[in-house]
Amino acid sequence: MLSSTAKGVLVLVLLLSLAGCANWQEFSKRVENPYPGDVAAVARGSALYSSKGCPVCHGEKGRGDGPEIASLRIPPPDFTNRDRMITRGDPDLFWAIIRGRERAKMPAYRNELSENDVWDLVNYLRSLYQ
Ligand code: HEC
Repeated sequence: MLSSTAKGVLVLVLLLSLAGCANWQEFSKRVENPYPGDVAAVARGSALYSSKGCPVCHGEKGRGDGPEIASLRIPPPDFTNRDRMITRGDPDLFWAIIRGRERAKMPAYRNELSENDVWDLVNYLRSLYQ
């Protein structure tokens, strides 16, 4: 039996290969946040945010002020800045998490998060601004 995380990862890999992950425009048309604003998803995302080590760069509250930032050339964004965050669609955030940002030293998380985990994180990030 596969664990639910392993199944989620398989689904994600399948989804990405179906979407032809080189073609971001096609991909973003096909992925959709399955539960925007869901309170349980936000809580799961908050737990993942801590357990996956996001705060070392992004800061405990997502303000982009984690302890690692001194070693980064590109600063992490402030997730509490509404004006900035509304310029990003949910698929943009989803994509950033699974692919990482090589130039900015952000790791890719596609091998350690299921598709639902990534959406939980996206919904958590959305909860950080009013
Ligand atoms: C080693 C430091 C580091 C870690 C760890 C890290 N990030 Fe990042 N992240 C960055 C930096 C730096 C950027 C800005 C990249 C850029 O502007 O191109 C970024 C960008 C992002 C973006 C894109 C934001 C946007 O508006 O375009 C998202 C979403 C994100 N990170 C989520 C996460 C999550 C969730 C985690 C944990 C699972 C995580 N990051 C872990 C450094 C990190």
